[in-house]
Amino acid sequence: MFYQLFRSIIFLQDPEKAHERVIRLGKFFGENNLTNFLKTLFNYEDPRLNSNVCGIDFKNPIGLAAGFDKNAVFTEFIEGLDFGFEEIGSATFEGGGGNEKPRLFRLVKDNAIINRMGLNNHGAHEINKNLTNRKSKIPIGVNIAKTHSPKIMGDKAIKDFSDSYKTMTEGDYLVLNVSCPNTLEGKTFEDPGALRELLAEINSLRISYGDTRPLFAKLSSDVDNELSGILQVCEDEGIGGYVLSNSSSKRESLRTSQKILKQIGMGGLSGKPIREKSTKIISRVYQETKKPIIGVGGIFTAEDAYDKIKSGAVVLELLTGLIYEGPWITKKINKGLVKLLEREGFKNISEAVGVYHK
Ligand SMILES: Cc1cc2nc3c(=O)[nH]c(=O)nc-3n(C[C@H](O)[C@H](O)[C@H](O)COP(=O)(O)O)c2cc1C
Repeated sequence: MFYQLFRSIIFLQDPEKAHERVIRLGKFFGENNLTNFLKTLFNYEDPRLNSNVCGIDFKNPIGLAAGFDKNAVFTEFIEGLDFGFEEIGSATFEGGGGNEKPRLFRLVKDNAIINRMGLNNHGAHEINKNLTNRKSKIPIGVNIAKTHSPKIMGDKAIKDFSDSYKTMTEGDYLVLNVSCPNTLEGKTFEDPGALRELLAEINSLRISYGDTRPLFAKLSSDVDNELSGILQVCEDEGIGGYVLSNSSSKRESLRTSQKILKQIGMGGLSGKPIREKSTKIISRVYQETKKPIIGVGGIFTAEDAYDKIKSGAVVLELLTGLIYEGPWITKKINKGLVKLLEREGFKNISEAVGVYHK
């Protein structure tokens, strides 16, 4: 109730300016060692939420999705809000300012966001340095993408991705964002041929560096007929798991008027309207690969989270839900998950993974 009031004030501000203020606030909390104070407000612990995925310990399954802390500047703040982990980025080898503003829009009637930020970030070197200096203890996913430039294509694109990989030495797991919907050159690496080349190159680097961090591929929520082909490539190249899913370029069944949608223009849709879509992809990928899945897309409640876990996700991430529901969202979902586990007789969250398909 309090956040609903607070939210109506925040929502009077331009969405990107509001986000910049949150970044400043987050940095302030981190720099002034206020994480423990935040924990007194937001902390919720229950051993039934602990899990180990690919050798990484998660104290709860709710992580922050890529795009909120692109430059890894407030991982302490995110830990203070009781997120179980955080995915930073997308980091690109050459940093960049992203697309022209305005590029971030709220669809309040739909509990959704459209963004065409265009991979604005400070570049792999600076982001890795920020991670080196972090004091937070939560697991960190490092999401890398190709530098946003139509000039970097083909072999240059593979080299650009590899340069980011070589630079991003920090973090607990790696994510290749091959599905950004907001670049001029399009989603280059969801083409199976290009994806195979990319994965082969990154894998050979991982072997030569003895890098044991698990490697995930982040796919779009719009993949459909092409999904099996993409999965075949990922499996052939020994991918560790999947992040499902990125935002959507589609505009299906929205309450927001066509006129407003036209004014907004292109961009990735996130939040409630993509919840079911991303859950369906999780189900499909779980059944086809049985690989660890980080489920993301439209999570606002414990029920949304549980549905994705039962569909096959091992841990989850959210972003739009945080903006609409506020910083209490992690505690609310984690508490709710424990109740749902109790109701269904599970002793630990990992027992519920993929039960829809068993
Ligand atoms: C403002 C904004 C920026 C984002 N930036 C990135 C990004 O840089 N890299 C990425 O992989 N995903 C990015 N995403 C996608 C999210 O990580 C997530 O996959 C998507 O928003 C669906 O989750 P949600 O419905 O909980 O927001 C962004 C999303 C939003 C709303």
